[in-house]
Amino acid sequence: MSSSRGRFISGLTAGTGALLVRGAPAVAQPYNCFRPGPRTRATPWTKPDQKVLERKAAWSLSAADANVVKLRAAYKKMQALPQSDPHSMIAQRNMHAYYCDDCPNISTNQQIHGSYRFFPWHRAFLYFHERILGSLIGDFSLRLTYFDWEVAAHRAMPPIYTAAGQSLLHPRALPNGSPVYPASDFTIVPSMMTYVVDDFMGDAGAGGTPEAKPHDYGHTAMGDDMGVLNTAAFDPIFFCHHGNVDRMWASWQHYHPGIDPGGAYSTLRFSFWDEHKKWVSIGVADVADTTNLGYTYASFIPTTARVVKREILLQLATPSRIGPPPPPEQLSDAASVDIHLRGLAVPADEGFFLVQAVTPDGKSHDLGTFATIPHVAGGGMSMSSDLRKVNLVLAVAPEVARQIATAGTTFRIQQRSARNARSSPNLLLGQGVPKVTPARIGALSLTVR
Ligand code: C2O
Repeated sequence: MSSSRGRFISGLTAGTGALLVRGAPAVAQPYNCFRPGPRTRATPWTKPDQKVLERKAAWSLSAADANVVKLRAAYKKMQALPQSDPHSMIAQRNMHAYYCDDCPNISTNQQIHGSYRFFPWHRAFLYFHERILGSLIGDFSLRLTYFDWEVAAHRAMPPIYTAAGQSLLHPRALPNGSPVYPASDFTIVPSMMTYVVDDFMGDAGAGGTPEAKPHDYGHTAMGDDMGVLNTAAFDPIFFCHHGNVDRMWASWQHYHPGIDPGGAYSTLRFSFWDEHKKWVSIGVADVADTTNLGYTYASFIPTTARVVKREILLQLATPSRIGPPPPPEQLSDAASVDIHLRGLAVPADEGFFLVQAVTPDGKSHDLGTFATIPHVAGGGMSMSSDLRKVNLVLAVAPEVARQIATAGTTFRIQQRSARNARSSPNLLLGQGVPKVTPARIGALSLTVR
């Protein structure tokens, strides 16, 4: 038994340890509540001597591409490793599950979804995953790919992942093998490049809009293991989907150089197993620039450069009702309006949601949609709802903005899909019985462009 295996086993938490008997074959855990690392302190990460190479779009690559050949060989090795090996696909899955912070008897406050931890943690996770894959084939020029779903023609599974008889293919029950993506929540991706930091990256207590969509949309639309946080990283497409989520951040950083969420953000550190099976910690400063991690993206996401004329703060009389409205002339020159619902509490169900405003005349206005991904299969997010808030931006027509920016307008959330993403992976808007709840919002404003 190698020393790394010994360390890994000693890191199991009480309550789950009984399932792994020394010397016995590893028993796959349903919900992956393994403490991923040793209880000893992590060593600070130091940058290895590595080339800066491009991560390319999965749709631009064929089976003959040298990097695809490397990826397939590396995943094959990773999938063959036992759970006790921190480089195994199971251990990678468990690492992600652990950081969802939903494990009984573990109080780590390590939830990496639903706040500004989301982008830097996943960037670091992908980096170490990429290095581990490289180490498995002895070739550190291997790079991950990205799923460029902002391109309408690419909103289906990239063929290099779906071809039969190779390691990038993961079983999924989608009727035609491909997810159905609600186009509207992907076509807004370029406009997200103009978001201010709180709306893009989130803050200490709320995730940014891109986390809810397209990120959560992508997961739930693919379903199966990808449709649930606990198992998502068992599927190689996770790292392709997140490649593009990370590319969104890299692109946003390109348009907003040097901007981060402030506060305690700069002190965040995360721990991972590195390619040498060393438990290391990496800080947000280390991951701020992708070239420090040895990669760039073949292209940035284009932006819709719309000049912001002004931001109008709206008063909330209650968490779902507008108080005294702003002078209406502030909207008279609007070409388009973004409505910012900061700290919107995410309903404790997974699925697709429609945000609606009901004006004092009783009319209801559809403002836009968002998605949430559950932690475990079977429905209902077991995460504390305080940890799942989103700073949601919705683009509305100026005429709609004029109508809703009225004292007495209320906001509500309508659930538009079945509860269980795993049993009905291809969730479509409009299916299921709509459930309506009042929206709870922390702050409300309009951006006039
Ligand atoms: Cu950590 Cu896409 O989720």
